[in-house]
Amino acid sequence: LKVPHRRDVPFSKLTTLGVGGLCHWLFEPITELEAQAFVRACAREGLPWRVLGGGSNLVVLGDLSMPVLRLALPKTIQREGTRICAPASHGHIALAEAAAAAGLSGLEFASGIPGSLGGAIRMNAGAYGREWVDVLTRYRFLSPEGDLVDKAPDPGEFSYRWSFLTGGRVVLSATAQLAEGDPSAIRAQVAEYRGKRGTSQPLSKRNAGCIFKNPPGQSAGRLIDQAGLKGLRIGDAEVSPEHANFLVNHGHATAAEFAELMDQVRARVLEASGVALEPEVEIWR
Ligand code: FAD
Ligand code: EPU
Repeated sequence: LKVPHRRDVPFSKLTTLGVGGLCHWLFEPITELEAQAFVRACAREGLPWRVLGGGSNLVVLGDLSMPVLRLALPKTIQREGTRICAPASHGHIALAEAAAAAGLSGLEFASGIPGSLGGAIRMNAGAYGREWVDVLTRYRFLSPEGDLVDKAPDPGEFSYRWSFLTGGRVVLSATAQLAEGDPSAIRAQVAEYRGKRGTSQPLSKRNAGCIFKNPPGQSAGRLIDQAGLKGLRIGDAEVSPEHANFLVNHGHATAAEFAELMDQVRARVLEASGVALEPEVEIWR
């Protein structure tokens, strides 16, 4: 398969949390055609594989021998009036910043969410009451068979931290419908969101964002906090004292320590409040 690839790349370098074993096969296509060739080849061979973005919502538990696809498409942004279209490999925060710099309003919510645009669409990433599906007008993806699909979002395709873009679908690009805005007002909104994040989230330590989904009408962070679990530590993995729904890596944490910590948090919240928390991060094993 003629797609650029690397062997044995540590997941500690591919994820924000910084744990996991080796990614034995990392395929990094620089064109949509190469990505399509990869998906078609895996489908033909019946080979399981995974797609990685910025690795900011992942807990990888060990080595992975199945091929991993990470798009390396050229990071160009196309603007048409108040719409912008970018490849899935574009940095998510960089895209929000580019929109703000162009005086386009609508992606302020995204300005503190790391990772790639593809990961953000797949996760329907959101913050401060807004999420991607609110601005998404079109997106392009590969079907599990490797066919190109270009469409507008339909009801039922996206919900809170969920989309149907799993099971071998690969987001290739997305178009957001934004609005002309006052550049200084956009900058002020971004600064306000960043300020809030800076005071409530442990941004100085490696982490994977919120570990558990918020149960309907509740906050997972508050439930973990109320169960008295802030500061619970196994090796170098800790329930952040700043925000209980963030687990942080003090430097040398292992995947096993995070797995154990997640299990303990889940069990103790269930015991304390009767609520069964569901992971928001994806766990690769
Ligand atoms: P990855 O972690 O690489 O992958 C996540 C999932 O997306 C995996 O299932 C992967 O297979 C899939 N995926 C990746 N790329 C593609 C693609 N091209 N096509 C199909 N599937 C793909 N999230 C929020 O929603 N709101 C927040 O406020 C927020 N704050 C965060 C703060 C911090 C400090 C951190 C570290 C994380 C935060 N997150 C937040 C979580 C994370 O940043 C988002 O979920 C992000 O959108 C994940 O993108 P990624 O490219 O890193 O995806
Ligand atoms: N809280 C506590 N203790 C804590 C943490 C939070 O009591 O340790 C309380 C707060 O005081 C607040 C409430 O819980 O009253 C909610 O907390 P916060 O405002 O920090 O928001 P959150 O619900 O914990 C969600 C998203 C974040 C997103 C923020 C801002 C989820 C799981 N989390 O957090 O997204 O950045 O809102 O919109 O939906 C992510 O998805 O990875 C993520 C970080």
